[in-house]
Amino acid sequence: MSLHDTPFDQEAVPRAWPHRHLLDLERLTPEEIRLLLDTASRFKEATDGCRKKIAVLSGSTIVNLFFENSTRTRTSFALAARRLGADVIDFSASGSSLSKGESFIDTAKNLEAMGINAVVVRHGTPGTPHLLAQRLGVGVINAGDGPHEHPTQGLLDIFSIRERLGDLAGVTVGLVGDIAHSRTARSNLWGLIKLGAKVILCGPPTLVSQRWRELGVEVSHDLDAIVPRCDVLNLLRIQFERQNTRPFPSVREYAHLYAMNRDRLKRAKKELLILAPGPINRGVEVTADVADCPQSLILDQVTNGLAVRMGVLWLICGPRESDHCTKSETGHRAGRLV
Ligand code: CP
Repeated sequence: MSLHDTPFDQEAVPRAWPHRHLLDLERLTPEEIRLLLDTASRFKEATDGCRKKIAVLSGSTIVNLFFENSTRTRTSFALAARRLGADVIDFSASGSSLSKGESFIDTAKNLEAMGINAVVVRHGTPGTPHLLAQRLGVGVINAGDGPHEHPTQGLLDIFSIRERLGDLAGVTVGLVGDIAHSRTARSNLWGLIKLGAKVILCGPPTLVSQRWRELGVEVSHDLDAIVPRCDVLNLLRIQFERQNTRPFPSVREYAHLYAMNRDRLKRAKKELLILAPGPINRGVEVTADVADCPQSLILDQVTNGLAVRMGVLWLICGPRESDHCTKSETGHRAGRLV
């Protein structure tokens, strides 16, 4: 389907976002998380499943500032911004003046001086988006800060579950894999707990500490024991790039104990939903047949990522209730964040 402008009732979309940024899910209230999810739903519906364009952020400029590799997040933030009519700057550290000694903050402040509205940042150091939020006067969106959080991934995972199962209260979600190094696990954990889901963290003892029980979640090291109880399994990649030592003897042994495979699927509830944030390593955390089975939402998650990111960009860069904007004003709002 070709892109074209779509009539969109801006007044009908909630705009009561009380923050300037989206840095994590840990500090959001359940109502704020629901607002993000509901806004994403409105955008998905209004754009015919994220395929059409709604130029409600025309005149805004979003900067993608990625210091770690990305396929899904970077592309979908850029596409979401373009679908909203915003301009997008895709900043690459390689080829930039960082190589001449310019600091990270100076780089960001120079981009801000060009009149941008929001920065989407991914960085290997936890807290980098929070630092930027303190130093810049524009909206900051965390696209993944080391092993800390990846709030839009948590939101799109929860959105995908909610779309199929409705209210999260009482839904049992197993997060399986490298919990110790996974920002996706943390954002899912906070969002799911706040919305009333039952969370089971599962993986080898070296990657899933019993201390997580202090948050009221269940910890298991036995995937076979938890599979029949779960409504949803979210299969997390082993983050070898964040590990100094190997947390298990071999990938083959890990896959034997923790890969979601056809045999385990046979012992699961018939309606079990399979999620994975991607990139997936077929044969490690999930076998190829399960990744591609009818219960797999892996590609739905990617589509829903666009809806979530449209919603987040709108809530952060769109007009505030305090702006008293008319519909005709909302297309031109550079520098409106207060
Ligand atoms: N899920 C996710 O964050 O994927 P990318 O690293 O490709 O952005």
